[in-house]
Amino acid sequence: MSILVTGGTGYIGSHTVVVLLEAGYDVIIADNLYNSKLDVLDKIETITGIRPMFYNVDVSKRSEIEPLFKMHSIEAILHFAGYKAVGESVALPLMYYRNNLLGTIELADCAVKYNVSKFIFSSSATVYGDNIVPLHEDLPLLPTTNPYGETKAISERILTDVAKANSDFNVTLLRYFNPIGAHASGLIGEIPVGTPNNLMPYLTQVAKGKRTHLSVFGDNYPTVDGTGVRDYIHVVDLAIGHMAALKGMHDGVNVYNLGTGKGSSVLELIQTFERVNSIKIPYQIVDRRQGDVAASYADVSKAYNDLNWKTEKSLEDMCRDSWFFEKNLKD
Ligand code: NAD
Ligand code: UD1
Repeated sequence: MSILVTGGTGYIGSHTVVVLLEAGYDVIIADNLYNSKLDVLDKIETITGIRPMFYNVDVSKRSEIEPLFKMHSIEAILHFAGYKAVGESVALPLMYYRNNLLGTIELADCAVKYNVSKFIFSSSATVYGDNIVPLHEDLPLLPTTNPYGETKAISERILTDVAKANSDFNVTLLRYFNPIGAHASGLIGEIPVGTPNNLMPYLTQVAKGKRTHLSVFGDNYPTVDGTGVRDYIHVVDLAIGHMAALKGMHDGVNVYNLGTGKGSSVLELIQTFERVNSIKIPYQIVDRRQGDVAASYADVSKAYNDLNWKTEKSLEDMCRDSWFFEKNLKD
């Protein structure tokens, strides 16, 4: 039996593939390389000694994805594939709704048709909107501020309804907080296209001298030092969280936050990065970014109680590994 990992050459998917291969799972990757490169397979092979099976397919196209279900005996689907740039989703909403929703629909339909009982979906803390922290899975979801966020909330509802209608189809919705860091080998990590929107990729590019300084979006939030607070999670901890979710799959629909439970401010992250890597990061305070919330961090008790999973890596590890990856990246 194999695990189908969609988006498996991407940032979070590739780290999860490494964890699964190291644990002895058979992995099949489905990715159309829209936001990743084929050489990630070489890197995965170098790390694990195993080359996973790979299909260059668009998961939102039924004709491309269904043959995989005919050819292989699939035990579970880990569905990472999707577009993720928030700003781009505001400019190109249909592109986001089409890719992210059709991917979820076609995969869920194939899962039901070919009796795949386990479906794990990459959701995001963004579905909580501007809510009460720490964010708990039982909170009523609030509107997100962009089409990307809506595709996550709608995908969650679609998968929930499919599970309600099919008792053999079980779904785990994983709400990621802020994944950063990279594999300790420095071989795989996040490679943003164009100007990074997220804090850590921007920060590492400043450290490398690719950008002059970091803009800190607002210092007048009601937080410890006025800057935005987020729950940064090391991508390897996040990857291990997927294996825990796979092993501990329950019947029906289950939702878990994957975070550390601890919030860090922008300034705290900058200071930790500077200290761990002995690099000065020039920054300027600028206006708030539209759509940002003051603070977002997880209540992580449910994942711990149900899946026996918690994070192991520190903010220092995240800063060190992010920099090690960026430093070794050939531009
Ligand atoms: P990523 O862009 O690095 O990886 C996504 C992969 O999916 C890419 O390799 C891309 O080529 C592939 N892909 C996109 N559309 C496809 C399609 N139609 N068919 C086949 N492959 C397709 O992104 P990531 O950071 O690894 O994120 C993985 C998932 O986690 C995404 O669904 C994302 O929305 C979600 N997520 C990410 C974050 C984050 O901060 N990175 C936070 C919350 C949720
Ligand atoms: C952003 C997205 C969210 C998505 C998540 C992961 C927005 C509004 N939200 O979340 O939907 O799920 O990424 O992909 O885009 N910051 C700076 N300077 C920068 C970049 C960021 O000060 O150059 C600050 C932000 O204001 C925030 C923190 O750093 O307080 C983290 O930002 P970011 O990495 O973009 O993540 P989120 O805002 O949590």
